[in-house]
Amino acid sequence: MYFIKRHRRLRSSAAIRNLIRETTVTPNDFLVPLFVVEGKNKKEEIPSMPNYFRYSLDHLKKEVKELWNMGLKAVLVFVKVPDHLKDNQGKEALNPNGLMQRAVKTIKETVPEMLVMTDVAMDPYSIYGHDGVVKNGKIQNNESVKILAEMACSHAEAGVDMIAPSDMMDGRIFKMRQQLDQSGFQDTGIMSYSAKYSSAFYGPFRDALDSAPTAAENIPTNKDTYQMDAANRLEAIRETISDIEEGADIVMVKPGLPYLDIVREIKNNVQVPVAVYQVSGEYAMIKAAAEKGWLDHDAVMMEQITAIKRAGADFIASYFAKDVVQLLF
Ligand code: PBG
Repeated sequence: MYFIKRHRRLRSSAAIRNLIRETTVTPNDFLVPLFVVEGKNKKEEIPSMPNYFRYSLDHLKKEVKELWNMGLKAVLVFVKVPDHLKDNQGKEALNPNGLMQRAVKTIKETVPEMLVMTDVAMDPYSIYGHDGVVKNGKIQNNESVKILAEMACSHAEAGVDMIAPSDMMDGRIFKMRQQLDQSGFQDTGIMSYSAKYSSAFYGPFRDALDSAPTAAENIPTNKDTYQMDAANRLEAIRETISDIEEGADIVMVKPGLPYLDIVREIKNNVQVPVAVYQVSGEYAMIKAAAEKGWLDHDAVMMEQITAIKRAGADFIASYFAKDVVQLLF
């Protein structure tokens, strides 16, 4: 005998829906990106990222205390580098007293248990806005990797728990792991931006840090020679597996929502934690549509965060972290 399948039984009340829900969101699911600027008493709103701010170090202290008290226990730090400190070699990135190094120390002094990750990349320090040294119109791989490995050690020296290289040069994870170990930082972890696509969704972030590739003669104005082609899937697996072989503790897919097929594919292919970066453009789209009254901000935010977790994210780097926690808890 054949019974009609009554799928709606399991949807018939909030109580049963809550009971059988497969994906839940908690404060432990978030890595909070933080933008830091030089100066005092600065809390500057980023125009293309409404209600998201760049903080000077004094404000940063208040912010990390607030995050910790909300149950948000992991941060990913980015710095806005003053123009006069930018060059082609990212020299300022290695300054032991640079803004990034001071930011890490400030956070660790304020909330010692906070998990601190730092973006390891040259673009905020580069006059050309690229993630590597530029020569004859090309982004140099090996020369950049050397600098990036030194940057990793400099952040480790400042006290970071994990470095997060976002540059997409070949061989960087191997070189960073090797140099960290040789310098006594064997406990410093690596979260690699492994499947990082060359995406137009990074626009608002580049506004926040003033780090967009510059339109100069013979300099590429996009990152297509190192970040991945949005059309490719197998390449994401190759990139991710080689980062794990080279020593990555955590791998990442970026952006989030338009790449959930990649998230699931990676999750099914690797045995290390998989992070997802819901990037600035994803944030900006929701904020803009909500401002116009075209979308329900909170509902769309929760739907997207849930979808990213459902796709296989172990945690999410998201500008919505505080909004979500305020809404739910
Ligand atoms: C820099 C970096 C970028 C992002 C994180 N690290 C931008 C880029 O690659 O141009 C993007 C984050 C976001 O858009 O939220 N290497």
